[in-house]
Amino acid sequence: MKDTEIHIRETAVTDFQDIMKVEEQAFGYDKEAKLTADLLKDKTAKPILSLLAFHSQKAIGHILFTRVYMNEMDNNQPLLHILAPLAIIPEYQKKGVGGLLIQHGLETLKEIGSEMVFVLGHPTYYPKYGFIPDAMQKGYTAPFTIPEKVKNAWMVQSLNSAGFVIPAGQIVCADALNKLEHWQE
Ligand SMILES: CC(C)(COP(=O)(O)OP(=O)(O)OC[C@H]1O[C@@H](n2cnc3c(N)ncnc32)[C@H](O)[C@@H]1OP(=O)(O)O)[C@@H](O)C(=O)NCCC(=O)NCCS
Repeated sequence: MKDTEIHIRETAVTDFQDIMKVEEQAFGYDKEAKLTADLLKDKTAKPILSLLAFHSQKAIGHILFTRVYMNEMDNNQPLLHILAPLAIIPEYQKKGVGGLLIQHGLETLKEIGSEMVFVLGHPTYYPKYGFIPDAMQKGYTAPFTIPEKVKNAWMVQSLNSAGFVIPAGQIVCADALNKLEHWQE
């Protein structure tokens, strides 16, 4: 499968069933599908970026970025985002589709002026796409406590060419993501 055979586009309301199917199949249970459904209708998550990847018109991967805030929910703040979830259906995993979705997402977020992106995930995977492990070391505290032994899973990258220009602080995520269950392994 070549990269050029993968088509990535922003999702529309009519893609909802495809998104749910991808999330359920990728994870093998429905927790992330439910989180995604909740985030898609969460006003505090906006502006979101929701992308689907297709191969031969079949939806094979989905990525969602939602808004986060620094210290308090204030819509006048610079735009900051978090990546969650990322889902590739099993038969298409480890073929680079996740990477394509991440890169496409980061480019689009830059275009809309997002300053930073956070992720809580595999610390050997996301650094390939520019994420820096242990965002806490840069002073960006996660919404829930990240245990010391997995501190590298809380990652950040700046989308601003000037680097980390946003002062350190406590990250506040959208209401739907602001539940302990989404911050534990
Ligand atoms: C994890 C996931 C998003 C990666 O997407 P993908 O398209 O399969 O991955 P890519 O093809 O872009 O990248 C493959 C690389 O990532 C690595 N990788 C894949 N899954 C990984 C994991 N769970 N932990 C660490 N590395 C992983 C592969 O070993 C491979 O490394 P290599 O390039 O050195 O060989 C995808 O496998 C998936 O949806 N898994 C189930 C749901 C999930 O765990 N989502 C992520 C939540 S943080």
